[in-house]
Amino acid sequence: MTQTLPFSFPRYLAAKKSVDDRALNRLVWQRLADEVAAQTSGGQPLDVLEIGAGIGTMAERVVAWGLLEQARYTALDNEAENVAAIRARLGTGRGAGLDLAVEQADVFDFARRPHNQARYDLLIAHAVLDLFDVPAALPRLLRMVKPDGLCYFTINFDGATIFEPVIDAGLDAQIEALYHRSMDERITDGQPSGDSRTGRHLFHLLPAAGVEILAAGSSDWVVFGSAGVYPQDEAYFLHCILHFIESTLRGHPELDPEIFSDWLSTRRQQIGSGELVYIAHQTDFVGRICQNDD
Ligand SMILES: C[S@@+](CC[C@H](N)C(=O)[O-])C[C@H]1O[C@@H](n2cnc3c(N)ncnc32)[C@H](O)[C@@H]1O
Repeated sequence: MTQTLPFSFPRYLAAKKSVDDRALNRLVWQRLADEVAAQTSGGQPLDVLEIGAGIGTMAERVVAWGLLEQARYTALDNEAENVAAIRARLGTGRGAGLDLAVEQADVFDFARRPHNQARYDLLIAHAVLDLFDVPAALPRLLRMVKPDGLCYFTINFDGATIFEPVIDAGLDAQIEALYHRSMDERITDGQPSGDSRTGRHLFHLLPAAGVEILAAGSSDWVVFGSAGVYPQDEAYFLHCILHFIESTLRGHPELDPEIFSDWLSTRRQQIGSGELVYIAHQTDFVGRICQNDD
């Protein structure tokens, strides 16, 4: 399978689920579970907000992995097709094992609404923060969390994209560097929106925003084939990663188009033969909000 598959963002997120399941840092998850258990020991339901919820895979996971039994869970995303996919996968109301509400909104508009101030016990952002200008975004997002509430920020990209086998060490490194630079220089709606080293920067950005880090650890994506076969829909996931790199770097003045095209074809052939290994370095955090006085 060397051809480019038609790209679908909901299918990409569905294919990413099994990759995330392996990647999520279990010590960080366990610390979150302990904190949630302490907060719900009186039997009161938690108010949980997940921002950039995509198609709802984290909401499915918190039920499947036994994190939340009694919770009012709001899954928010700004894209209509994602919100429709959440409703299709999970339904709303009590069907998902959570008291689920699905909201289509820009998170920063949502955060400005007066009734959302200090409303939530737990804020989740999974594979999301590295899309934002984090120093500016954090205070706006954390305002929605109650004092002493929790945040769970996971799959924060942190500056390493690795493909094996090596095609050409210099070219591989150049493509990685240009791809990361594009994240650092990305502008959305006139604002900086991305940081290829979000993972490590959160170690100082979270305390600066009034968050005590309770646990942190790596959550690298590691995708490989076993006997030439990738699990579940992970070959599609790998095609999507190449699609992101191709659409970001196509026409880049520092990259010879023919050499780049050959590099992509070789990588796609390696997916077809089950040979391609892909690793992305990322970090997870659980924290407690100490102050809301930005
Ligand atoms: C990389 S995806 C991750 C989705 C999901 N958390 C997952 O891992 O499957 C980032 C998500 O954030 C959403 N998003 C990006 N900017 C947003 C904004 N300003 N407000 C709300 N959602 C946003 C996108 O629509 C997308 O679904």
